[in-house]
Amino acid sequence: MAYYRLLGEVPPKRHTQHRRPDGGLYYEELMGEEGFSSDSSLLYHRFLPSAIGAAEPWELTGQATAPNHPLKPRHFRLPALFATVDSSTVDVVTGRRLLLGNADVRLSYVVAGAPSPLYRNAIGDECVYLEAGGADVETVFGRLSARTGDYVLLPRATTHRWVPTGDEPLRAYCIEANSHIAPARRYLSRFGQLLEHSPFCERDLHGPSEPLVAEGTDVPVLVKHRGPAGAVVGTRYVYPDHPFDVVGWDGCLYPYTFNVSDFEPITGRVHQPPPAHQVFEGNNFVVCNFVPRKVDYHPLSIPVPYYHSNVDSDEVMFYCGGDYEARKGSGITQGSVSLHPGGHSHGPQPGAYERSVGVEFFDELAVMVDTFRPLELGEAAAECEDEAYAWTWARGRG
Ligand SMILES: [Fe+2]
Repeated sequence: MAYYRLLGEVPPKRHTQHRRPDGGLYYEELMGEEGFSSDSSLLYHRFLPSAIGAAEPWELTGQATAPNHPLKPRHFRLPALFATVDSSTVDVVTGRRLLLGNADVRLSYVVAGAPSPLYRNAIGDECVYLEAGGADVETVFGRLSARTGDYVLLPRATTHRWVPTGDEPLRAYCIEANSHIAPARRYLSRFGQLLEHSPFCERDLHGPSEPLVAEGTDVPVLVKHRGPAGAVVGTRYVYPDHPFDVVGWDGCLYPYTFNVSDFEPITGRVHQPPPAHQVFEGNNFVVCNFVPRKVDYHPLSIPVPYYHSNVDSDEVMFYCGGDYEARKGSGITQGSVSLHPGGHSHGPQPGAYERSVGVEFFDELAVMVDTFRPLELGEAAAECEDEAYAWTWARGRG
């Protein structure tokens, strides 16, 4: 995210003395991507950022996946995963349930009312979409105020915790990459500014507004990290002093939020392909969103998508608002996820193609993740699958 910010106190020259009021030195840490070859920030700590007092395994459960075999389009009802769970006992970090995953990205869901432990993901960036609820996301860079419709972008290894605010539990759709997640490359100038044709710009990205310093000793932090043969494993560290000890930072690497309502849809006389709806990209996957919008205005247009076989991708749609026009009659509703895998041709449900003729506006909201490698099914998938979905196109014939 090549958009410079500065918060709190930093010295006028990098890598020089930055002194506390008592005359002692703050400790400078460079947090940077791709070795020293990409975006970075410099953080100034009260305590040594490398000081850990203990390390023990954090046993992560529910990380296993199974192939989508026999190959089927699938429908999952995510709210069913938490229908009988007391959300006041669930937090966004340890309570998330893995739905789909491959070596590039993992998709999970959680309904949470409890504050999370301190946590960081050392495997890759996280992009957490808030279907409902609000939260303070406290990070080593400062606090983010997150609300319904926000994507919360957390760079790899950003120590943070989730604190729900408001009366309703958080409903969070978590996109965990094994890489970095950034705005689509084609939206950016060669120096990283969002271009005029991008559906959003820097004013729509909201970072922390001030440093966040907390007091505490013997503070546990959960770290998700790479294990043998690509496994996802965890370690629990204990820090002698609270890791939220940064008095100032500057640079182009930091967490931020982007609200889906700030995405300005690109429309046309005839159907616009999914790349027109792209927001972010990671290694071997993209994130798109379908927002309420005027639709195709050619006099003979068909506003719902044509049937398509996106031969290089698995397509995952999370239906998170409105009434999704192309899926009417399929059982898909708020909180549903559909998986349309590569190798299966998909498109609107029976009747939707015809019904869409003459429609001028779609009131729909969906977040889509397309992966270039096949997705496997997590344990949560089996618990909330609508087994009838694969046959809904055939059922509706004639
Ligand atoms: Fe599709």
